[in-house]
Amino acid sequence: MITGASSGIGLATATRLADAGWLTLLSGTDRTRLDDLADRTGGRALPEDLGKPDGPRRLAEAALAEAGRVDALVASAGLGWRGPYAQTPSDTLDRLIEVNFAAPLRLVRLLLPGMLERRHGRIVLLGSIAGQVGVRDESGYAATKGGLAMFAESLWYELRGTGVGVRLVLPGAVDTPFFDRRGTPYQRDRPRPVSADRVAEAVVAGITTERDRLYVPHWLGFPARVHGAAPGVFRRMASRFG
Ligand SMILES: NC(=O)c1ccc[n+]([C@@H]2O[C@H](COP(=O)([O-])OP(=O)(O)OC[C@H]3O[C@@H](n4cnc5c(N)ncnc54)[C@H](OP(=O)(O)O)[C@@H]3O)[C@@H](O)[C@H]2O)c1
Repeated sequence: MITGASSGIGLATATRLADAGWLTLLSGTDRTRLDDLADRTGGRALPEDLGKPDGPRRLAEAALAEAGRVDALVASAGLGWRGPYAQTPSDTLDRLIEVNFAAPLRLVRLLLPGMLERRHGRIVLLGSIAGQVGVRDESGYAATKGGLAMFAESLWYELRGTGVGVRLVLPGAVDTPFFDRRGTPYQRDRPRPVSADRVAEAVVAGITTERDRLYVPHWLGFPARVHGAAPGVFRRMASRFG
């Protein structure tokens, strides 16, 4: 099951997984784009609004009715918002929390018991470098991604030896409609945007290998480690050099 399959990273991941022979369960809100993708790849379109508290339950039920089981969950649905936190529209903040953070946790809660019973499964969560080091004017967004990262980290301990694995994919900037949708373009020099397919490659590696923390591009692991080891130094450098 791929959430966010109608666009960007989720779309590229769904295409790669279908090419590799998976039966894909395609989640998003845009029924037309999901149907097109399903027609092209042989997947199943399961439109559902994950911004509604009941959305994840309805999606999980539809997925199990369609396929009987879910072997891998790729939680890619998400949105951004950029601007001073004090000016974040309250409905945007609600959607950031529901779609980026609450929906993946709810979906994992619904699908994990079946995976544990079968002693087989993969959960791949789309985090962000923003959730590792913090980004000015993206506090709400970064908080949802930071929360997701700590969820993955904690679940990792629980899932050791169970046959079920949790992975965290951590992109920098990715060339997708994400920035148009959030209403402000990407304006930094670095990290340079990578293609959605490059992130999809990391997602598939999360499913097929034991790698559980995948930065895209790979070098972004370095600033994350500097931040972890010396947050004060990192902050001074980030404030000075942007
Ligand atoms: N692009 C980047 O630079 C970047 C960097 C780091 C991390 N990420 C993360 O990567 C993930 C994918 O982003 P992307 O770049 O692929 O963005 P995107 O092209 O804008 O795609 C976002 C996807 O999320 C789905 N979605 C949004 N709201 C939804 C809702 N209420 N219910 C169900 N689905 C919903 C959209 O479905 P519909 O269009 O059908 O509504 C769409 O398929 C996100 O979690 C994002 O935070 C992106």
